[in-house]
Amino acid sequence: MEIPASQLVIADLNEVNLISFYECFCSLMREGYGQFPTQLQEYFLDHDYTLANFKVWIDRNFRKVILAINQENKVVGFLIGDHAYGGVCFISWFGLLKEYRLQGIGSQMLGKYIEYAHIRKAHLIELYTYNGASGFYEKHGFKLIGKREQGFFGQKNLIMNLKLRDFNINDII
Ligand SMILES: CC(C)(COP(=O)(O)OP(=O)(O)OC[C@H]1O[C@@H](n2cnc3c(N)ncnc32)[C@H](O)[C@@H]1OP(=O)(O)O)[C@@H](O)C(=O)NCCC(=O)NCCS
Repeated sequence: MEIPASQLVIADLNEVNLISFYECFCSLMREGYGQFPTQLQEYFLDHDYTLANFKVWIDRNFRKVILAINQENKVVGFLIGDHAYGGVCFISWFGLLKEYRLQGIGSQMLGKYIEYAHIRKAHLIELYTYNGASGFYEKHGFKLIGKREQGFFGQKNLIMNLKLRDFNINDII
């Protein structure tokens, strides 16, 4: 069933939506990021991306986490990005539950993060992706700037970035 993007709310991660976000994150980790071996998916969930760690992220405002939330208050997608360092905003995880894909929702979420990067006066947004998703980013103006056969966790990384402006030191100090 198609769910129009207009029926979803785009909001930041907080203590109220944390549990629903984490359910969504776990299910995407096991389904949407199929390029990772199962052992690695479970490692991420048991070590780096535990519920307790996300709680600490909220308390310390560690990352910018943008969520898509449906009418039943269920989190159906997320974009995890940095606040900006050295003028670069980095997207580390991005995904939607399967039934919510290809309806413009990912574009809406990425648009929110691009808006945020402009507010932070970032000059670049960077991410690592794979063949199965690079076309989405190309549609949003990202350029392939490099490729690693074995990058983080031995994965093939397509390194892409979106230029927002020229770097100006006055924007970061
Ligand atoms: C990648 C993802 C976040 C995109 O969000 P989405 O809501 O499905 O994308 P949209 O509907 O906004 O698509 C915008 C455009 O990109 C295209 N597109 C979407 N996903 C694509 C993909 N995986 N590969 C190539 N093009 C894609 C759409 O066809 C659409 O094209 P159009 O403007 O010509 O119609 C989502 O498909 C997803 O969660 N995929 C699984 C997890 C994943 O791979 N995450 C990225 C890890 S780096």
